Amino acid sequence: MKVKKIGIIGAGQMGRGIAQVSSQSGFETLLFDLNEEILQDSKNRISAQLQKDLSKGKTSEEAITKAKSLLQTTTDLKKMHDMGLIIEAATENKSIKFKIFKDLSEICSPKTILASNTSSISITEIAAQTKNPTQVVGMHFMNPVPVMKLVEGISGLETSPEVFKAVEEVAIAMGKTFVKVRDIPGFAVNRVLMPMINEAIFALYEGISTKEDLDTAMKLGTNVPMGPLELADFIGLDTCLSIMEVLHEGLGDSKYRPCPLLKQYVAASRLGRKNKRGFYDYP
Ligand code: CAA
Repeated sequence: MKVKKIGIIGAGQMGRGIAQVSSQSGFETLLFDLNEEILQDSKNRISAQLQKDLSKGKTSEEAITKAKSLLQTTTDLKKMHDMGLIIEAATENKSIKFKIFKDLSEICSPKTILASNTSSISITEIAAQTKNPTQVVGMHFMNPVPVMKLVEGISGLETSPEVFKAVEEVAIAMGKTFVKVRDIPGFAVNRVLMPMINEAIFALYEGISTKEDLDTAMKLGTNVPMGPLELADFIGLDTCLSIMEVLHEGLGDSKYRPCPLLKQYVAASRLGRKNKRGFYDYP
């Protein structure tokens, strides 16, 4: 099962990053979004990122020309029909993802591999929306995709071993390290990372320290590039909340309850860097 053409659903932060890495890795890449303006913006941002890499000597003019020629965009989902692999990177919302997989399963060849970049929704449940659950798999990239080396590979209950192997090969061809994890809420990264972020929010809520000091303590005390509150803003507070809710509901343990302060920030539309206001302001 050799993948040559990759379709990507959703031109947000994650979809854009996956499209950049996919085209830079030599795959014919088709990026879909409902909104033409978002697609244009994505192409501009990818172009700017490639130019930045060029100025640092991390890529060449030829490689950029090749990557750009391999990257196409569309607002027509039907154009996905002949892709070898489709990576869905839409909003982290069950009903949106279920509808996309249902539609793709109607549109695509039975051989097309359907992967989701979901950060926490069950791959088995997503696969159950399709005609052929053996072709459905999880491929969880980290943000920012061009920088982060990890892809979590999640095998649903019905995922075929050939499909799993094929996405592992794609991840490796993209220069990533692939780890296999079970289809359990949060998979591996978010099972560990999100409760840590949630606990940092509880620490702020309880007045243990200021947000700046909590972040400094974790950055200097555990040698991570961002403190947990800064990282929550980077990921998006709505995404953090939705992952905590999946952990809480899926694992049924009160230790995963989202901190009331996190809920309050999301209710106030303080979503983090994406809308310039989270725990910190981004003027
Ligand atoms: N796209 C491409 N490259 C980027 C980038 C982007 N969006 N953002 C930063 N970079 C590159 C920069 O160009 C720079 O490259 P060089 O080293 O070659 O110069 C490098 O990354 C470092 O960037 P900066 O110097 O601008 O800034 P920094 O040193 O503060 O690093 C960071 C920025 C890479 C984001 C770093 O802070 C970091 O690694 N943070 C933690 C990120 C993290 O934990 N991500 C995982 C989140 S969890 C997740 O994604 C899963 C989920 O489901 C929620």
